Amino acid sequence: MYLPSKIIVREVGPRDGLQAESCFVETSRKVDLINRLWECGLKMIESTSFVSPQAIPQLQDAEAVIAGINRPPGSTVSALVGNARGVERALKAGVDEVQVVISASEAHNRRNVKMSIEESLRQLEQAAEKAWSSGLVIRAAIATAFGCPFEGRITYSRIQEMTKALQAMGIKQITLADTAGLGNPLQVYSLVNSFRDDFPELEVALHFHDTRGLGLANSLAGLQAGVTVLEASVGGMGGCPFIPQATGNIATEDLVFMCESMDIATGVDLDRLLETAKWLEEVLGHALPGRLLQLQRTGKVCNC
Ligand code: COA
Ligand code: ZN
Repeated sequence: MYLPSKIIVREVGPRDGLQAESCFVETSRKVDLINRLWECGLKMIESTSFVSPQAIPQLQDAEAVIAGINRPPGSTVSALVGNARGVERALKAGVDEVQVVISASEAHNRRNVKMSIEESLRQLEQAAEKAWSSGLVIRAAIATAFGCPFEGRITYSRIQEMTKALQAMGIKQITLADTAGLGNPLQVYSLVNSFRDDFPELEVALHFHDTRGLGLANSLAGLQAGVTVLEASVGGMGGCPFIPQATGNIATEDLVFMCESMDIATGVDLDRLLETAKWLEEVLGHALPGRLLQLQRTGKVCNC
């Protein structure tokens, strides 16, 4: 079975995770979380989002978060944006990279950013122009790429068309996101293979929510298909506020455990990450769904 020898774990907890919390997490706690994650060895962190505070009130302190965090050498501070205004704010705040988001499903796109896919693409064109002219790296996430709770199956030709449009904006890194956790390993393996054949010059990253328990199986299928960038969220927190019954991403520590136990290097210190996830549970005041965290809670951890 083919597997890569190392991967990049792109941490999205401070954005995808905290946006889904019912309570506002204090800015200083967010900063602390990101700084702790750097210390675990993570190098790419989607740290917040520069979107409308009406849409995502939990991340209304984006500027203050970016101003407060450490910037260790080799780190990439990323933020999610949904329109050109978001790019402007991210630029001013001094992030290294923005991830724009567009949904493969018309219905989800309208719920998420209140625009049709066509309108979103036009907004993103302006956003991309702004980003490139200022030297900011811009990547794109295609949400609901593996299925949509409102529209059902998403055709591969839809993904192809969107990717071509994003590529025409100069974007070279695409994240295929299973926002509603509807994908399965065979689908992931086949979609990624087709995608890599059709767009060999693009870097593909994968983003899985564990809504139906297939997050790690889907990640493994992605690795087998040659993907080397996987997004995950510490403790397994997260969820799109515009998807019914949304649940968290795959837990970063579970992904690191799976990879390291198959000799796939992640550069992440698993013990430290687990400590961070436990600390985060205290900050949030509730348990998180990560499996290693659950195991630790039983007090029956056996390392044999
Ligand atoms: N940053 C800050 N404020 C913003 C903004 C941005 N990037 N974009 C818009 N706004 C403000 C507007 O100024 C306006 O504020 P006001 O009511 O005080 O005048 C308000 O947000 C609504 O703006 P409008 O242009 O009418 O947008 P909208 O209501 O049609 O919403 C989006 C469109 C894209 C701004 C909004 O849906 C959004 O930010 N969505 C992001 C969703 C998200 O992050 N989902 C999770 C990740 S997948
Ligand atoms: Zn997500």
